[in-house]
Amino acid sequence: MKEFSIVIAGGGSTFTPGIVMMMLDNLDRFPIRQLKLYDNDGERQGILGEALEILLKEQAPHINFSYTTDPEEAFTDVDFCMAHIRVGKYAMREQDEKIPLKHGVVGQETCGPGGIAYGMRSITGMMEIIDYMEKYSPDCWMLNYSNPAAIVAEACRRMRPNAKVLNICDMPVGTLRRMSQIINKKPEDLEVRYFGLNHFGWWTSVKDKEGHEYLSEIRDYVAENGYLTQVEVDTQHMDKSWQETHKKAKDLLAIDPRFLPNTYLKYYLYPDYEVQHSDCSYTRANEVMEGREKTVFTAAKKIIEKGTAENSGFTIDSHASFIVDLARAIAFNTHERMLMIVENNGAIANFDDDAMVEVPCIVGSDGPEPLTQGKIPAFEKGLMHQQVTVEKLVVEAYITGSYQTLWQALTLSKIIPSAEVAKNVLDDLIEANKDFWPELK
Ligand code: NAD
Ligand code: G6P
Ligand code: MN
Repeated sequence: MKEFSIVIAGGGSTFTPGIVMMMLDNLDRFPIRQLKLYDNDGERQGILGEALEILLKEQAPHINFSYTTDPEEAFTDVDFCMAHIRVGKYAMREQDEKIPLKHGVVGQETCGPGGIAYGMRSITGMMEIIDYMEKYSPDCWMLNYSNPAAIVAEACRRMRPNAKVLNICDMPVGTLRRMSQIINKKPEDLEVRYFGLNHFGWWTSVKDKEGHEYLSEIRDYVAENGYLTQVEVDTQHMDKSWQETHKKAKDLLAIDPRFLPNTYLKYYLYPDYEVQHSDCSYTRANEVMEGREKTVFTAAKKIIEKGTAENSGFTIDSHASFIVDLARAIAFNTHERMLMIVENNGAIANFDDDAMVEVPCIVGSDGPEPLTQGKIPAFEKGLMHQQVTVEKLVVEAYITGSYQTLWQALTLSKIIPSAEVAKNVLDDLIEANKDFWPELK
């Protein structure tokens, strides 16, 4: 089997060790000859890099491992770039969450004003790494899960339409795992139908390979418990705030019991509830900084100190194995069925062709081929149209540098109650993001 060369962009990410461990666990399916980390923060990445160097020497000495902040070194001779950058890091995530809350509005990293602020930062970082990839390894594919994926995907469509970038999210994968526990099946034995935008969609079918439909069985469970299940699915989504989110799916289902909702819809459909249950001095960013970030970096420092990764605190992120499935689909033309964020072009029959939607696709060596999901009902279509227009306006505002357009985007967001609140939030976001956003006029 061919052996591949990989670069992880955002090498300093809290997800890097788990993903590297996951890739080591999958070497029989996806052999690797070279693995590089790339980040623009050498100090942050250096800690994980040094620890992973020790780990790889022990567990996979045949892999040529390195970490660098030099784009040419990072992006030369690579087949896949796995991208998970966070422009502005957790310090800015905290602002994305706290600034809207100060104005009585939901503060969330990918939804509403927080997501818009993050999007305006991410576009710059994403275009930068896409250009490095195209310059130094023109045949390379980028598997991107940097957020906010919906805005990033629209920016790719507008600004780098021919780039080999695949945008994917792990939420549908994680929720499918929960569904499989509910019906006591293996997730790999299930096939779904789904329509929506990223972090904004609905399952319309969950079947096994024999064609048995489980939607109503899952629905009965979700109507009582949401997606909360007893068994641990992955460590990240076990935190208290995530448990609340899984539970809240119950109330999302109530609005349209025909379909199984994506958990992120709670920010759009129950924003008042969300604000009432938020603490503007302690948000998810704080929970992550005190939790995942501390755990991962403490484990890395321990490995460095001891000079060995034996019994280390790094754990396999098996939840992320969909990334290997995706890389394999491209590399070996496996025709894997996966949910991807792609240009609609008729996949949702009664929705705009040029909308970036999330739908099941068959992925082969030419990329994803969307499967048609037919027509969608008025309620979901109306919500999606409002949201996709927000995402389009954000990218338009980025490209044209227009304050007016970004104000319109915020005003149109379902999460924001009025143009006045939108303006107040926007002005605070501009101030907080002055080192990251393009200048708006
Ligand atoms: P993190 O802050 O720990 O890591 C992000 C890293 O990106 C940092 O080390 C930072 O220095 C680096 N970075 C920022 N700008 C960069 C640039 N221009 N070039 C290179 N590196 C850059 O964040 P995290 O919590 O580990 O999350 C990483 C990313 O993965 C986020 O975008 C997050 O939203 C995303 N994520 C997506 C999914 C999904 O399903 N789509 C799931 C989990 C995480
Ligand atoms: C889910 C979403 C990701 C998001 C992550 C946030 O996995 O699909 O898009 O980045 O949750 O998790 P966190 O633990 O950082 O709040
Ligand atoms: Mn996601």
